[in-house]
Amino acid sequence: MSVLVATTMEECRGAIGRLRPGRRVALVPTMGALHEGHLSLVDLARERAEVVTVSVFVNPTQFGPGEDFDRYPRDLERDVRLLAGRGAAIVFAPDTRTMYPEPLLTTVTMRGITDDFEGAHRPGHFDGVLTIVAKLFHVVEPDVAVFGQKDAQQAAAIRRMVADLDFPIEIVVGPTVREPDGLALSSRNAFLSAADRREALALHAALDRADSLARDGVDDADRLLDAMREELSRHPAIAVDYVAIVERDSFRPLRRISGPAVAAVAARVGGTRLIDNVVLEPHER
Ligand code: PAF
Repeated sequence: MSVLVATTMEECRGAIGRLRPGRRVALVPTMGALHEGHLSLVDLARERAEVVTVSVFVNPTQFGPGEDFDRYPRDLERDVRLLAGRGAAIVFAPDTRTMYPEPLLTTVTMRGITDDFEGAHRPGHFDGVLTIVAKLFHVVEPDVAVFGQKDAQQAAAIRRMVADLDFPIEIVVGPTVREPDGLALSSRNAFLSAADRREALALHAALDRADSLARDGVDDADRLLDAMREELSRHPAIAVDYVAIVERDSFRPLRRISGPAVAAVAARVGGTRLIDNVVLEPHER
């Protein structure tokens, strides 16, 4: 299937305008370096809309100084090939000057959901994410937009932005895709050496511990956190940024699980910072 690659907002809006009449439009925002996790979001988008647009843009404003913006993997040709194979209609791949012709004086800032965890460890990150997502929403005007659960705090923040700012867009969050051994797919896995990759499995092991304890009826967050920390402490090569048990939508830390909850972890493995999470199913009483 052929896919149209638009690099300017005008081209993107023009292509969508031609395809939109009588059809639903979906947007899957990405930073490229696509893997099966992204492609599963494209599949979800195709189930919900006839015209699927995928944006590929490594957004500089969500990277802090010293983070991996410069070395973030980029291969647009490969991304386009993969997206064509999954039935995307349009790839929007702007350059930085197209999205930011001038330094922005207006940005989207959120309180609460974004204060802790990724927000605390990556100051300014969520302003960058929410602002670029809002800009992409304005370019594509999708009926539905699809994000990955792997960035659980981002997903919660985007849902809230859409509600707060009245974007008429349905937000769908697709499950995390994992390697057979449990490692969550991430574009940053490309930076892991073979030894780092083995260590990185500890993130999944820690989440798995929390998940099975919660399924067994443990609802005390401290017990779940201790189990996660204990699992991670067996891997001294891993530097943990945080482990957390939070309410899924507000990202507020929980003392006890009684509704939708997320166990989350962020850690550095070698020179690479990884995040992962699981949605905890509260035990049926
Ligand atoms: O999840 C990502 O890849 C990015 O944060 C997003 C949503 C594409 C915004 O740049």
